[in-house]
Amino acid sequence: METKPLNRGLDAARLAKQDEFYTQYVDIQKEVEAYLEFDPDTFRGKVMYCNCDDPFESNFFKYFAANFNRLGLKKLITTSYDGSPIAGQLSLFPEYDAGNGQRQRPKALAVILEGVRDEDGDGAANVTDVELFLKRNRAARIALKGDDKYPGGDFRSAECVELLTQADIVVTNPPFQLFREYVAQLVKHGKKFLTIGNTNAITYKEIFPLIKDNKLWLGCTNFNVGMFFVVPDHWEHFHHIDQVTGKKIARVSTSCWYTNLDHGRRHKPLSLMTMADNLKFSKHKEIRGKKAYDRYFNYDAIEVPFTDAIPSDYDGMMGVPITFLDKYNPHQFEILGSNLTVGTPISDVARKGSYAQGGPSFYIENGSGTYDRVYTRIVVRHRRVARPAGGTKK
Ligand SMILES: C[S@@+](CC[C@H](N)C(=O)[O-])C[C@H]1O[C@@H](n2cnc3c(N)ncnc32)[C@H](O)[C@@H]1O
Repeated sequence: METKPLNRGLDAARLAKQDEFYTQYVDIQKEVEAYLEFDPDTFRGKVMYCNCDDPFESNFFKYFAANFNRLGLKKLITTSYDGSPIAGQLSLFPEYDAGNGQRQRPKALAVILEGVRDEDGDGAANVTDVELFLKRNRAARIALKGDDKYPGGDFRSAECVELLTQADIVVTNPPFQLFREYVAQLVKHGKKFLTIGNTNAITYKEIFPLIKDNKLWLGCTNFNVGMFFVVPDHWEHFHHIDQVTGKKIARVSTSCWYTNLDHGRRHKPLSLMTMADNLKFSKHKEIRGKKAYDRYFNYDAIEVPFTDAIPSDYDGMMGVPITFLDKYNPHQFEILGSNLTVGTPISDVARKGSYAQGGPSFYIENGSGTYDRVYTRIVVRHRRVARPAGGTKK
């Protein structure tokens, strides 16, 4: 089949018919290691659970298995979904190789590792040892049958929920369309987690309150640039081919990490100028040279169109773009809502159709008797008095 590279700006997620975005090993490594920089014991003694991860495909399984001892894990549980397609990534289960470059699909399985030892006696305990261990120990796999409601390996099935209760930290890239349900389950069970989702999820009514209350925040890497995922060979639209693996890679411009594990960037204060200095020296022409920041017509806050233009000395409410969350330090700012949660529609604008994405927008009077609708905004305020913000380092 003829294949063609994906246009750079094109969002591959729109083209996906199925959940066939596989996270690259290097991206998992980069994200996980960032938590270690903040607290080297983040994963020590912990039961890790990757619950949307066919261990035959998943780099989450490979990464945590390969780094089991270095991270100090207690146990690694990985469950595969019965309907999971096969992308043909390098597998640690050669016995499922059909011999023609294809693989046989095993039924849904839980793979449980309680330790990684030097199985091959080469002096190191690494991913080769995991492969050997899995070959020697069929008992490390448990068939998942599913239940009346869900197929085997479904993260919502009784078997998987039972495994979830054993887990300390859940790490995966779940199906995007089930993200709300996925996060709700983790929150309900009080789990620590590190997961990938669509950036649009920030404003979901089930997700935003968690962000506002500092129960969930963005991970360390790749917020503004999107992420690159491995996609199956039959994909016609992709960004490039990985030189080492030969696998097709697609870009999803709207995906990022979500977590409730603490990391260093949350404690780094954003360096800002005063309002007067911004108006005089800002690098943004939308601010520089103005007499004052715009105010919303229908909400008591100023419009701050760029995160680095937040005035350091303004004590009132400010509407900032969603990208602010990438720099959000809960000790420096408090989140009060978003235009979707606190915005009040104004009747004359509302009649002209002021509702964007199911909620009210903020408007700025433009001087000619009409109003300009502002993109999605998060309402924040400087946290002047030290108040507990959650997620502080032990
Ligand atoms: C976006 S892919 C990511 C796969 C893997 N976690 C990774 O990052 O490489 C989502 C995976 O979830 C699986 N899946 C779909 N629905 C599921 C469900 N209800 N429960 C568990 N896994 C599911 C899909 O088969 C697919 O393998």
